[in-house]
Amino acid sequence: MSKKTVKDIDLKGKKVLVRCDFNVPLDENRNITDNTRIVAALPTIKYLLEQNCSIILCSHLGRPKGEFKKEFSLEPVAKELSRLLNQDVIMAKDVIGEDAKFKATNLKEGEILLLENVRFHREETDNDPEFSKTLASMAEVYVNDAFGAAHRAHSSTVGVASYLPAVSGFLIEKELKFLGDALNNPVRPFMAILGGAKVSDKIGVIDSLLEKVDTLMIGGGMAYTFFKAQGYSVGNSMCEEDKLDLARELMQKAKDKGVKFMLPVDTRVGKEFKPDTESKTVAWTEIPDDWEGFDIGEKTIEMFSEELRNAKTVVWNGPLGLFEFDQFAKGTNAIAKVLSELDATTIIGGGDSAAAVRKAGLQDKMTHISTGGGASLEFLEGKKLPGIECLQDK
Ligand code: 3PG
Repeated sequence: MSKKTVKDIDLKGKKVLVRCDFNVPLDENRNITDNTRIVAALPTIKYLLEQNCSIILCSHLGRPKGEFKKEFSLEPVAKELSRLLNQDVIMAKDVIGEDAKFKATNLKEGEILLLENVRFHREETDNDPEFSKTLASMAEVYVNDAFGAAHRAHSSTVGVASYLPAVSGFLIEKELKFLGDALNNPVRPFMAILGGAKVSDKIGVIDSLLEKVDTLMIGGGMAYTFFKAQGYSVGNSMCEEDKLDLARELMQKAKDKGVKFMLPVDTRVGKEFKPDTESKTVAWTEIPDDWEGFDIGEKTIEMFSEELRNAKTVVWNGPLGLFEFDQFAKGTNAIAKVLSELDATTIIGGGDSAAAVRKAGLQDKMTHISTGGGASLEFLEGKKLPGIECLQDK
């Protein structure tokens, strides 16, 4: 990596502001339902403890839009961190207010303070210089380890780097290594599987991956736009009529680049958008008028699986069907299972595909599951991530 990490500067006994992505899912009682992002931040925190740093952690949680709202408080995260580290984590009542400042000033070496949700201030998302400066004034060094928020140019991800020496933590380093190696130095055959609802969300990533991969497999809701683009009826399936030309262009680009572009050959259709709706599998050219496509079919699962068995590097982003409903999760689960058995580097882009892999209990069988949803997608698109660009070069 071309950016400095915590290992490249002297941190002994320093007061360090660490931006993490503690944007974790909570249930209605505010219990954390998936602590992956908190666990992923531990290596950096533990390293800073070894360096006798006083650690000020900050993060966003949800989108409270600049207002204090109890349901977006980071308190549950402080508790979970305390449990994981077996050490008290002091919770600040605010972000840059009296309480946070007092606690930050009096923080001793080896102690950890968690500031409240940075998005309780609108200035955070505005990347307001005054806000950034005040946040930065609490510490001597800034460490960004929030890969999941690295695509956001906010105060705590970018702004503070103008006022403090800024380096990355181990999570960002790890994410860049796995995603970067897969993209720029893949062992071939290199294949990508892209799913998700809309072509419009994935144009950039399809376009960019067509420059790199040997095979590109498409599933999920966006497959129907590609079917329609070839003149077939898609019934009630999700379809972006204004993206048909674009779908044709992408297919042409795949042809020009010699990339094997694989679309489903059959699809599981349902009568209605509900978990127990009547369903059946049909060929992709024969979707009935009043039915809606919700998953790839058995023949497609077989075809994709066979192709994947030859892969040496696979990147997967986006579920292949409506995996939230059990009867339409078969395609996504089957492909997750195939990936888990491959003798290949398997990289799972964050968000829904990561959730699907975890739901199937296969998380330990993948080479790397990204903690970033939007961030990993933008990285795969070849975009520069502002939260990484702002860090010091090696
Ligand atoms: C995420 O969950 O993808 C990150 O935490 C970023 O959250 P945001 O989309 O609200 O900026």
